[in-house]
Amino acid sequence: MTDGIDPKYFRKVMGQVPTCVTVVTAMVDDQPQAMVIGSFVSVSLDPPLAGFFCTTTSSTWQQLRKAEVLGVNVLGDHQIDVSNACMRAPDERFDGLDWTLDGGAPRFADTSAWIRMTPHQVLDAGDHEFALCNVVGMEAPEEPKEPVIFYGGAYRSLSDPED
Ligand SMILES: Cc1cc2nc3c(=O)[nH]c(=O)nc-3n(C[C@H](O)[C@H](O)[C@H](O)COP(=O)(O)O)c2cc1C
Repeated sequence: MTDGIDPKYFRKVMGQVPTCVTVVTAMVDDQPQAMVIGSFVSVSLDPPLAGFFCTTTSSTWQQLRKAEVLGVNVLGDHQIDVSNACMRAPDERFDGLDWTLDGGAPRFADTSAWIRMTPHQVLDAGDHEFALCNVVGMEAPEEPKEPVIFYGGAYRSLSDPED
């Protein structure tokens, strides 16, 4: 335990919270944009809302927030390469990846889920902003694909052997 909140310790403790790995995408000024997001969350069923947190210093978030349609690509455990690709320089993130436009947003092939959203509200959240969005379309494969999980600073699979 610490009394104050030390940033390093904050990261260490929060690293114990497993998160999803998604890539949020959009077309902005005819250019595809992508950002790896672990904070994607389902918010409300009626009305259908979901959202994600972005650091205010992200240049890609400054692009995504201009978009009329956003795509959420929930990555399967076979798609760590897609996450790594989307951590490259912003204009190289789609290089070599299999994607199409779906309702105006870039959609990667073979994801474990796809969610299409329109912006609803941007809320202050400290050094992040929360993008609250309307869910306008969604799809998951009939046969579920195992997701990739981010935990303890590393990608993990639910089918990892116990260690
Ligand atoms: C697994 C994983 C999850 C991430 N989740 C978030 C997130 O929820 N919010 C965020 O702002 N950045 C998150 N990041 C970091 C951003 O993807 C990365 O810093 C961003 O692309 C850099 O911003 P830029 O494109 O403006 O350079 C995550 C990175 C990884 C690898």
